[in-house]
Amino acid sequence: MEIVRLLNTAACIASRAAGDVEPNPMVGCVLVRDGVTLGLGHHRRYGDLHAEREALANCRRRGNDPRGSTAFVTLEPCCHHGKQPPCTEALIGAGVERVVYARPDPHAASGGGAEVLQQAGIPCELCADNPLATHISDPFVKRVTTGLPWVIAKWAQTAGGSLTTPEGESPWITNALSLTRVHRLRARVDAIVTGIGTVLADDPLLTARGVRRVRRVARRVVVEGRVKLPTECKLAQSAMDGGVVVVRPADVAGHAPEKSPERQRRVDAGACAHRADDPALTLGALPGVEQLCVPGSGGRVDLVAMLRQLVERYDTTTVMLECGPMLLEAFFEAGLVDEVFVYVAPDVDKQPHRDGLRGEPAGWVGSLPLVRTKPLGDDVEYWFRRLYNRPHNRPQV
Ligand SMILES: NC(=O)c1ccc[n+]([C@@H]2O[C@H](COP(=O)([O-])OP(=O)(O)OC[C@H]3O[C@@H](n4cnc5c(N)ncnc54)[C@H](OP(=O)(O)O)[C@@H]3O)[C@@H](O)[C@H]2O)c1
Repeated sequence: MEIVRLLNTAACIASRAAGDVEPNPMVGCVLVRDGVTLGLGHHRRYGDLHAEREALANCRRRGNDPRGSTAFVTLEPCCHHGKQPPCTEALIGAGVERVVYARPDPHAASGGGAEVLQQAGIPCELCADNPLATHISDPFVKRVTTGLPWVIAKWAQTAGGSLTTPEGESPWITNALSLTRVHRLRARVDAIVTGIGTVLADDPLLTARGVRRVRRVARRVVVEGRVKLPTECKLAQSAMDGGVVVVRPADVAGHAPEKSPERQRRVDAGACAHRADDPALTLGALPGVEQLCVPGSGGRVDLVAMLRQLVERYDTTTVMLECGPMLLEAFFEAGLVDEVFVYVAPDVDKQPHRDGLRGEPAGWVGSLPLVRTKPLGDDVEYWFRRLYNRPHNRPQV
């Protein structure tokens, strides 16, 4: 139980860095000797000290000697020289006596630290008993093992299951508290994906506003079946703020991938269109707008191919979907959604929210485990999350 509690503490402090460390994983570490916590730390920002070095520094700042301690860490300590030297070196050098970690590091370069520590005479134990500690590095593990980003779907709906408001009414279904939560999410993801249906109906901006600290400025991505995005829409007009990518299937007339890589590069950069009257030319001339052709058919983008491109071209680890029912359903059908935030407002007749998520969208969530519900005034936030690639649990304690 003590191990589970300590790994939980490590995971809780690690989670403070969501949006600051990607593409690295969120990692936390607690140093304990004879039941006393000597130091704790987490990886705070991409390029900065790793959790183990943070915890050792914290330990020394408190006037403690880490020798003979046990390090409880959410991810296997790294053993390679990247932006920081190997954590294994720091743990060995500090005289740490034992390491307990919640998940193996699958990265070809940084993984294998447990073996290095064992060879140095430091027993290393994998303990996957704490779900928070085990899964806090899910986005990192998913990207490393599949080449795909972590996909968060977010939508607002009425208790009856409607995602839209009657024409002429405000497009906002939920209250200000729910909107604030959404802006916080926007402020920590790499990309926000919407569909052309949403752009044409609501003309959203999709930036993070009113949050204390924008941890990263998300690239905004619009998925369309053919060239439709109006140049005067808010997304196109604000494209310099983080960039806007317009994604289309390569089967769209005149938009098959170019044979010459140079011409493809220029098309992608919006520098040239396929025909003089091509609307893509006007769109491509807007600063900050990029156009991307990905595989697809029947006017539908291949969503896996699109996600791969977002990783490869833009170093994307986390994606948030803020689209309408059509694209949302396509993502769910393809099994691509890892995490869901649903904001449920009372029905139009203001009947309070009573008995859980209802209506058609509830079916999309399928078997994703419900993590938590949180009242937000009249609204309720539902949070679902996939337990990604649960590793074999072999506690040796
Ligand atoms: N409550 C909420 O949280 C929320 C959020 C966003 C939007 N909305 C509402 O949703 C409505 C719009 O919904 P929508 O379903 O029409 O729009 P959408 O899902 O945002 O966009 C759908 C469009 O995406 C394009 N597309 C390209 N590849 C696709 C693929 N593989 N699968 C599916 N679509 C693909 C198609 O464009 P082409 O037509 O060019 O083929 C399709 O029409 C609006 O009323 C808006 O207010 C609600």
